[in-house]
Amino acid sequence: MATEAHEGTLTVTDNRTGQTYEFVITDGTIRATELRTIKVADDDFGLMTYDPAFMNTASCRSAITYLDGDNGVLRYRGYPIEQLAEKSTFLEVAWLLIHGELPTPAELAQFTKDVADRMAVDPSVVAAVKAYRKDAHPMGVLEAGFGQLSTLYPEAKAIESDPERMDALYNIIAKMPTIGGVAFRHGKGTDPVAPDPSLDYPTNILKMFFGADYDPDPRLVRALDILLILHADHEQNCSTSTVRSVGSSQVDPYSAVAAGVAALYGPLHGGANEAVLVMLREIGRKDAVPEFVEKVKNREALLMGFGHRVYKNYDPRATIIKKACDDVFEVTGVNPLLEIAVELEAVALNDEFFIQRKLYPNVDFYSGLIYEALGIPSEMFTVMFAIGRAPGWVAQWLEMINDEEQKISRPRQVYVGPDERDYVGIGAR
Ligand code: CMC
Repeated sequence: MATEAHEGTLTVTDNRTGQTYEFVITDGTIRATELRTIKVADDDFGLMTYDPAFMNTASCRSAITYLDGDNGVLRYRGYPIEQLAEKSTFLEVAWLLIHGELPTPAELAQFTKDVADRMAVDPSVVAAVKAYRKDAHPMGVLEAGFGQLSTLYPEAKAIESDPERMDALYNIIAKMPTIGGVAFRHGKGTDPVAPDPSLDYPTNILKMFFGADYDPDPRLVRALDILLILHADHEQNCSTSTVRSVGSSQVDPYSAVAAGVAALYGPLHGGANEAVLVMLREIGRKDAVPEFVEKVKNREALLMGFGHRVYKNYDPRATIIKKACDDVFEVTGVNPLLEIAVELEAVALNDEFFIQRKLYPNVDFYSGLIYEALGIPSEMFTVMFAIGRAPGWVAQWLEMINDEEQKISRPRQVYVGPDERDYVGIGAR
């Protein structure tokens, strides 16, 4: 891991008191807690920063994912996403994220077996999924499924101890698609398909979704594996920071991941890929694109799959996915919605509204089209995102647990409510 790099100091003068303070700058940051030394009186709490939505606050030091949003750069443990998407596999990337280095052949073989052997879920999980309504959203089912796993593996509460926690982390990666598959088939009114430990991870997913007899084209299997690689981690996004924050209470990792699944469910995060397909269907045809873009500019709609808190440039994952789209459509035939998506991108990228705000396609703009070509219905898209993100969540959880600087996550607030006042009895209100 990179050591702390001191880059000088920051001198601040408090104009309320005329006093000057000096703070060390480390890795482009100052320690927020040091601001507390800035006081107007001895009993003053000290200065805080106010940062709704954490727009400019680093909550951890991490050696997992490097993201340069201005230049469209994404690297896992230093390896460019483009190289990993071209040359690696999802399970190799999962190992890399968790352990920090690419696996040796023996490590990868063992890890592949460890994951395959853990994919089956306890029959009580299947029974619980079957108790849901057929139209239950699979993300709600997945969220509950991870709560249930925490009850099945109480030994995972030993968060400081290997092998218990590694067992839990591998279980999380292994069982995410299985619970997703059971939820998917329940929604269709069909029985679950058990995982087959002799199959590779993406083939297992497709068979658990579409049936043991389904024989996927290897190009589709590879496209799915690439999509999972692209989703595997994205540093301190909403769901990952949720996993860290909930995990900081020292709850077991299954529960922390259940919270991550909930965060991912939202339409501004993982739910965007589903929302993109809804939007493309609503637009309906290529000629209707300019009219829709006008609606976006008039603030009557969001252009789903566009914009990002960190990327102010083309999301590098969107470029790779666009290419994967071509490979998939070669097998399945072109999805007519692709034409609308390509037109929408072209119109938006040439429009001042989007140029000025640096709004580019993100990972979700094209991923839904690939999932749809694979036969996966839109309500399952966010589950696919969760399957891909599982290694990132567990790697970040582990890094957080091992980080001696971390404590229970607990932001401050600026209180803006009423001053003290006396209780008024109900009859007098
Ligand atoms: N369509 C239209 N306008 C937009 C969009 C969009 N998709 N995204 C941002 N803007 C506008 C926004 O209205 C604001 O304009 P103004 O400054 O005039 O008020 C400006 O761009 C800055 O946007 P913001 O809302 O301050 O940006 P943010 O960093 O808070 O939000 C975002 C990031 C991803 C939530 C947002 O871009 C968005 O809602 N996008 C659509 C949903 C989406 O595709 N989400 C997937 C994100 S990538 C996968 C993931 O991480 O889960």
